[in-house]
Amino acid sequence: MNDLLLRALRSEPVPRPPVWYMRQAGRYLPEYHTVRNSLPGFLALCRSPKDAAEVTLQPLRRFKLDASIVFNDILVPPAAMGMDLEFIKGKGPVFHDPIRDPSDMKRLKMPTVAGDMPHVLDTIAILTEQLDVPLFGFAGAPFTLAAYMIEGGGSRDFLHVKRFMWQHPKAFQELLTRLADICGIYLQAQIDAGCAAVQLFDTWAGALDPTAYRRFALPAARRALANVTGAPRLYFTKDSSCFLPWLKETGADAFAIDWRTDMLRARHVLGDTPVMGNLDPGALQGPPELIRTKVRKIIQQAGPTGHIFNLGHGVGPTTPIDGVHAMVDAVREWDWNKL
Ligand code: CP3
Repeated sequence: MNDLLLRALRSEPVPRPPVWYMRQAGRYLPEYHTVRNSLPGFLALCRSPKDAAEVTLQPLRRFKLDASIVFNDILVPPAAMGMDLEFIKGKGPVFHDPIRDPSDMKRLKMPTVAGDMPHVLDTIAILTEQLDVPLFGFAGAPFTLAAYMIEGGGSRDFLHVKRFMWQHPKAFQELLTRLADICGIYLQAQIDAGCAAVQLFDTWAGALDPTAYRRFALPAARRALANVTGAPRLYFTKDSSCFLPWLKETGADAFAIDWRTDMLRARHVLGDTPVMGNLDPGALQGPPELIRTKVRKIIQQAGPTGHIFNLGHGVGPTTPIDGVHAMVDAVREWDWNKL
């Protein structure tokens, strides 16, 4: 078993950082489209353990990666709570019945993993039989899930969420608390099924001002992670450079840093807490030599211990395969022992 990831997460000495990247299974790989087009939709793919396991393995056949992430989506738990979710080609996820008023929360049920989302456990069971690298499980963080459930989809300014949050702060807290408890149970179930690490995706928390982040998103993320044991817990936020000083209050064991934050600054603020990241996914559109230079700079800035190489956000659908090769090769060629 390749345990480079787990050693880096424990800040043990490693010759080079482990490398994997968010959304590593997906549309930039032609073989993903073949599986995806054989099924009626994206959710059908998530809910078919055999196919979800297959697309999880696809990037590992092409690139020498040090970790894998189970194929699924952060919006599966809200769908299991009874929300009407559809993934629309070219538009992304849509909830047809958004939560716009506290009374809408009555519709939400408390799902169980085994009863309402068994596919994720079955996919993990298939993968742990086959993988020789650690497998990540994941969940959306409470604020990010609440944002999708209230907006009804993606958003630029999140005004529906902010209206709900400021008009009904108590109900909003209650929604976050419910989501946090579901996240915690869901992450623990993924660890119990065989995941070696878990990641909480708080993609949209960066839409908040620092005070609102500390009042709503941060305590909800902390509650989600509080009772999760048995594997390292990572926390990702985007546009989060102004929140760096408080990230440790989430209680996570390591932090994924987006590309707008200089790795040197992240290190300075977070001390020796393990960090993950943080190449701009857009840099993969550039020439291989530029990618290699940027990779080396990030590794040097992060330093020899407690760094996991990753992108600063998910890999995009138009990413050139050669760009990914350049990134992975540059990390694998690094050797701290030779410096
Ligand atoms: O390989 C992996 O990383 C595991 C799979 C994974 C997916 N989504 C598959 C997916 C993971 C970890 C996610 C997380 C996720 N999903 C997040 C958090 C991370 C982030 O990127 O910010 C968010 C916000 C979502 C919600 C979501 N799901 C969106 C906004 C979209 C549409 C994106 C788009 O560009 O159209 C999805 C769909 C989705 N999730 C796809 C994949 C491979 C594309 C679906 C398709 O095949 O059409």
